[in-house]
Amino acid sequence: MKLHHFLLFIHLAGVVVWVGGMAFAHFCLRPAALALPPAQRLGLWRAVLGCFFRIVWVAIAVIVVSGFAMLLEVGFAQAPRSWHVMAAIGLLMAAIFASIWFGPWRALQQAVAAESWAQGAQALNLIRQRVTLNLVLGTLTVALATLGLAY
Ligand code: HEM
Repeated sequence: MKLHHFLLFIHLAGVVVWVGGMAFAHFCLRPAALALPPAQRLGLWRAVLGCFFRIVWVAIAVIVVSGFAMLLEVGFAQAPRSWHVMAAIGLLMAAIFASIWFGPWRALQQAVAAESWAQGAQALNLIRQRVTLNLVLGTLTVALATLGLAY
């Protein structure tokens, strides 16, 4: 096994966990949770996202470090355009995630602790919008990386 294969493996493992987790939350957990009353629904999201978001930080670190390591193997100037596009979108996705972590995620935790369900629902809505954006960007990045659309 070459170093490149190992880097590609951990890169894709990070992508699977991050993008797959967002898809599960959006397409499976959200419709099921909508049936719950606000207190239970927001409490559930607080617990689920608290766990998932910690894992996302690890996935981001793995994706960015392995991604730039693979870029450096060939050198920035020689790397195909699709790799540069992937790096740019990947960093944008990481910035969007940081904006969730330091913004509406904090607000959701405070609202649940204070039992302010209206504010909690507002914060959760912001989280949903930004996670959906990242899900679209992540899917687009996988398409660019695999379909050769940006060469
Ligand atoms: C800082 C961010 C990133 C950098 C620098 C980066 C860089 C790279 C590099 C250099 C490769 C190796 C390609 C090859 O050997 O053919 C790769 C593969 C790949 N990356 Fe990224 N990447 C980043 C983020 C992402 C993100 C956010 C996703 C998806 C959500 C993603 C999806 C993929 C996929 C699917 C491959 C496999 C492509 C293939 O081998 O055909 N990457 N990445």
